[in-house]
Amino acid sequence: MDLKEEINKRLENIVNQYQSGKVKDAMRYSLLAPGKRLRPIIMLNVIRSYGLDCLKYIDIACAIEMIHTYSLIHDDLPGMDNDDLRRGRLTCHKQFDEATAILAGDALLNEAVNVILNVDIGDSLKLRVIKELYQASGANGMIYGQQQDLYFEERNASLEDLKNIHKYKTGAMIAASFTIGSLIANPKDIEKWREFGYNLGLAFQIQDDILDVTGNEELLGKKVGSDVQNHKSTYVTLLGIEKSEAYIQELFEDCYSRLYGMKINHGLILELLQTILKRVN
Ligand code: IPE
Ligand code: IPE
Ligand code: MG
Ligand code: MG
Ligand code: MG
Repeated sequence: MDLKEEINKRLENIVNQYQSGKVKDAMRYSLLAPGKRLRPIIMLNVIRSYGLDCLKYIDIACAIEMIHTYSLIHDDLPGMDNDDLRRGRLTCHKQFDEATAILAGDALLNEAVNVILNVDIGDSLKLRVIKELYQASGANGMIYGQQQDLYFEERNASLEDLKNIHKYKTGAMIAASFTIGSLIANPKDIEKWREFGYNLGLAFQIQDDILDVTGNEELLGKKVGSDVQNHKSTYVTLLGIEKSEAYIQELFEDCYSRLYGMKINHGLILELLQTILKRVN
């Protein structure tokens, strides 16, 4: 089963429902751009790893991707990272305009909850999923991380500050992708997946910091050198590339070891980890 293709098809159906106009065009443009779909793929694979049919929950996975895409549209705005290229295309505000990009981001965030509300699962599970997702994306989660990321553009971050930024701006949504899968498939394991997700999220953002320096623009689909231009503190500026790579390796080893105690199909998650470890975009 090609999960990415299933996710893309479903995202297209979802975005087709909205009122015609620039905002819908911009939502469509950014959402259907070639993203990796990592977070929905994580959520669905956690469910699969318990031997359950994951496609029943694909709309929840799409809602995670909608929130992630909103965060990218806003992250690229001139008031934030001021980037021109995303997913191999002009950023949303460059292709359309700033007002439309802001509204398209707002719309994706709002509509994500409507997508979940329409899923045919029990109300109690639905509420737990919504709580888990919006705690991760909200003011105590990703948005807090984005705030801290901007705060430290003007100041030098310590390694501890940086770990905290990465934990929230990236780790929270990645951890939620694991915990939402676990809520659906086996709620008892949720805290194990949360720790696992935060570790992987940190490794993922350190990779992102490295790719911003060493990456190939064409493969990456975004401009390299954005962090230096914005005076960001990153793992590369604090530790250098070699030590950052060693730390990524360490975090992956830690992820592997956390998996062994769990009663799941390990192969599925190991495969996912391998793809992330080798990523070039
Ligand atoms: C980019 O996320 C933003 C970060 C949290 C590093 P991804 O690297 O998952 O971007 P897409 O979704 O594939 O475009
Ligand atoms: C963004 O981190 C994390 C988000 C919450 C979007 P970055 O600013 O490093 O992500 P990229 O490099 O623009 O994708
Ligand atoms: Mg940013
Ligand atoms: Mg950015
Ligand atoms: Mg980056």
